[in-house]
Amino acid sequence: GGERGARTSSPSSSPPRPPRGRPRSVPPLSAASFETLRPLGAGASGSVYLVRRLGGDADEVLAMKVIPKAGLAASPDAARHALHERLVMGVTPPHRFVVTLRYAFQSPRSLYLLTDYAAGGDLYAFLRRRGRSLGEASARFVLAELVVGLEHLHAAGVLYRDLKLENVLLDSRGHVRLADFGLSKLLAGGADALTRTLCGTRNYVSPEAVAGGPYGYPIDVWAVGVLAYELLAGVTPFDAPTTDGVWAAILRAPPAVPPHVSAAAADLLRGLLTPDPGGRLGGSPVRGGWAEVKAHPFFGGLDWAAAADGLLTEGN
Ligand code: ADE
Repeated sequence: GGERGARTSSPSSSPPRPPRGRPRSVPPLSAASFETLRPLGAGASGSVYLVRRLGGDADEVLAMKVIPKAGLAASPDAARHALHERLVMGVTPPHRFVVTLRYAFQSPRSLYLLTDYAAGGDLYAFLRRRGRSLGEASARFVLAELVVGLEHLHAAGVLYRDLKLENVLLDSRGHVRLADFGLSKLLAGGADALTRTLCGTRNYVSPEAVAGGPYGYPIDVWAVGVLAYELLAGVTPFDAPTTDGVWAAILRAPPAVPPHVSAAAADLLRGLLTPDPGGRLGGSPVRGGWAEVKAHPFFGGLDWAAAADGLLTEGN
């Protein structure tokens, strides 16, 4: 069952099921409960492995992130990120376009976070295999699922803050799975809630965050604009050799829209990359937030209910 998290939130199923969590009579899970199949990658906070639960279904594989506590003791930032990742994943209701936390435990040396395995790799690698950029039909498919996933996170009070090609994973059928909640923030106070920290991968940081904040949900909309630009143009819109140069480019927005894209795509990019967060496409709760993005002509005719159900295929 791919979509159901370790936590169940649905009270509706009538036949009583055995609890999916661990029964009290067996020892708690540990790293020894899993067989490591192969490494999936190493990030800033720790390494990720493909694992299989011992004694479980041979086909049920998971991604296990191992975060050594030594690194957390040495770096308050790393400690905060690990804590946030665990917290945010723990409170976010499961969603088909978001990586779901299945198990979390610790040993004296490490923290372990086990999530669904996204077999299709990340969007960065996908884009390189496709030759740097995607056609507009493929970009529409990816962006539609991203919009649905981010809308879910925002509705749950989660500001994602680290949207980038590398954090958009794809499942075995090419559907989007947002991963890595280390920089995410729980925002109390509705669609207007604000925070300040300058963080995220620099090419994706919004002008209001570069300027020192405050900022809120529209920063994730901006990052969708940067990612959309990368998908359509094959290059990042705000690039410079130094961090200060990147900040200057972001504050100097808007970037030149790539000449080969359609008028609708160009207008979407300009709308999402509008410096003023309130004037940004999808940046104003009064104008409907994500609903304004969904209604843009670039997505013209797209069946958003089908998109939310994961029924979209590339090209429709
Ligand atoms: N790398 C990091 N997390 C992953 C996941 N959930 N699936 C596949 N690869 C990953």
